[in-house]
Parts: sequence; C-alpha cells; structure tokens
Amino acid sequence: MRVISIVGARPQFIKVAPVSWRANGLFEHMILHTGQHYDYELSENFFSELEIPRPFVNLNSGSGSQGAQTARILAGVEEVLLKLSPDWVLVYGDTNSTIAGALAAIKLGIRVGHVEAGLRSFNRAMPEEINRVGSDHISDLLFAPTDEAMENLRNEGLYSKSLLVGDVMVESLLFMKAKIEREPVNRNREIFATIHRAENTNSKDRLQEIIYKLSKSPVPVNLFAHPRLLHKARDFGIDLGKGSIRVFGPASYFETLKGIIQSIGVITDSGGLQKEAYLLERPCLTIRSETEWIETLEGNWNQLDGDLEKINGYWWDGARTPPDISVYGDQLASRRIVEGLIHYSS
Ligand code: UD1
Repeated sequence: MRVISIVGARPQFIKVAPVSWRANGLFEHMILHTGQHYDYELSENFFSELEIPRPFVNLNSGSGSQGAQTARILAGVEEVLLKLSPDWVLVYGDTNSTIAGALAAIKLGIRVGHVEAGLRSFNRAMPEEINRVGSDHISDLLFAPTDEAMENLRNEGLYSKSLLVGDVMVESLLFMKAKIEREPVNRNREIFATIHRAENTNSKDRLQEIIYKLSKSPVPVNLFAHPRLLHKARDFGIDLGKGSIRVFGPASYFETLKGIIQSIGVITDSGGLQKEAYLLERPCLTIRSETEWIETLEGNWNQLDGDLEKINGYWWDGARTPPDISVYGDQLASRRIVEGLIHYSS
C-alpha cells in the first residue's frame, strides 16, 4: 500500500511526524511538500528536529492570494498523484495545502483521509474555516482529535466516516519535550508570543493596537515573528520592537516548546500554540474571539481576548488546577490513523 501525506505549512510538519514514525515498515509512506512555506525557519528545520524523512518532492508553490496559492497547489499535487497513483492521500489540519491536496486526490478517485478533522471556529471569515469544512465534506475518512470534533462532524452528517483517534500533536510534543528536558530549563518572568493570523495582521489599526498593548506589558514579551507579521509591520510602518517587546525570527519546534516552558505564559493567535501551552501547563491568552480548541478554556488555562482588554494586564496570575490532557487522547492517535488506513483499504 502506498500513502502520500500532503504537507506545506509549519503546523503540518509537526502533525505528519507521528504518522511517518508509525507507518515505518507497515506501508510505503511518502511526504509531498507543497512549498506553501519555504523559509528555512518555517519548513526545513522541522524535518531534522522531528527526525522524519525529507519530502520526496517540493512543489515550490509559494505565497499568493488565497485563490492563486490554492490553485497552484491543486495543479501541482494533481500532476504528482497522476504519476504515483497512491492508495491513500492524507491531508492535515486547515491550510490551503489541506483543501487543495484533498480536492486534487478526490477528483482523481484516490481515497483521502483528513487528520485533525472536525475542528470548527464557526467563523466563515477565516480561510482556515473554509478549508476545514471543505476538506471534511470531501474526504473519505475523518480522523477526529477530540470528542468535540466528533460532535461537530455528527452535526454535519459526517459521523459515519469519522473515527475518534486523539490528537497527533501530543505525540510530537512529548517527543520534543523529552529532548528539551535533557537539560535543565528555568522558568523566567517573560511571555512567549506569536501573532500571524490574517484577522490580526491584515488591518493596520488592529495590528497597531496589538503591538501597542504588547509594548505596555508589565513583563518582557518575546515576540517570535512569522514572516507575514514582519512583512505587514514593514508595509504599515509599525515598529515591532517597542517597550516590553523583544523581536525574534520564527522559532523552530524545539525552540517554541522550550520558550513556552521557560515563560510564565503565552500570547498567541495560533491554534497549535494554545494547545501546546495547555499541555505544557502554561496559561495562554488568545488574541481571537473564538477558538477551535475549546478544551483549553477549562480551568482558565486559555482566555480569549479578541477585544484586547486583557493583553497588557496580569492575565496569567491566579491558581489553576492541573489541565486534563487526556482530552487530547492517549498518545496513540497515529497508530489508529495508520491502522484505519490499512483497515479501510480492503
Ligand atoms: C498558513 C495557514 C495557517 C497556519 C499558518 C502556520 C492558510 C490559509 N493559512 O498561514 O492556517 O496557521 O500557515 O504558519 O493556509 N511567508 C514567507 N515565507 C514563507 C511562508 C510565508 O515570507 O515561508 C509570508 C509571505 O508574505 C506570505 C505570508 O507569509 O504571503 C503568508 O503565508 P501563507 O502561506 O499565505 O499563510 P500563513 O499566514 O503562513
């Protein structure tokens, strides 16, 4: 059996890793890189850090508008799939590489599995929400990470093709945490921050307000800037390195998890980071009005701050009871995915 995993953006390299480890020896597993992310810090370093094989091809699709980028990936993936005729294609998460990969495969009659199916923000203004909903509806097999995701799939009439497997990101996180903890890690009075979503970076007023409030933080804010943030800040003439803010380039996966552990809390608009903060027992402030990972809101571990009212206060303060990490499964998600593909092939 031949399975091609289609990845292209930073979080997908983290999600494919456990599947790649687990598929080893069971079937032929090939990684196709769409090239949606191309900077070394957003792409290349994940493969070595997570000890997975390099992609067999990189389509170098690059950046562009939603339509142009998705279209380039769609055409490029189709060409490769026509040559290699895999038994399954796996797509991950909610990026333009996810929807384009799923669409290319399904139209060629190739079965598609969607890893991290069933997440919903119920905010159709987000490109990611369109990508998730579309991918779930056209895929053949949906691998849901949480009960909540299963419930969303049930509500959309997709239950019969859905499997509750748990969250693959927990497996990657524990793998990397073990590496980090080979050396002592100190906790400092500083915040680990990232901002990259279109809703926070596309408008000058919004971005300016976020940066102004971060700059007034009572403790240092280490801002690991995604290229989108750097480009937008430059275009709008916004200086990121003001007041409490210390600007760094995008962090590798190792540096990200280490930075979270070293911090007193995380400020982000990333989905993955909200969950990583929760699993690593650090409070998180999410600069959005809704979250797909609603489990993280339990016990005040994650707070939503779409209105930017808490961002320059002491939002991390207060006692919290330990988070229930079992809501993200039992670290066997990748095994269930691999077994699911084998089971449903016959
Ligand atoms: C994409 C995903 C988002 C995910 C994020 C993780 C979509 C719609 N969004 O957002 O869900 O959370 O990846 O990082 O697929 N750029 C570079 N170098 C790169 C890649 C991008 O400079 O290697 C810059 C370009 O200016 C580009 C911009 O970042 O236009 C945005 O990149 P894009 O791939 O469109 O989306 P992300 O914001 O990274």
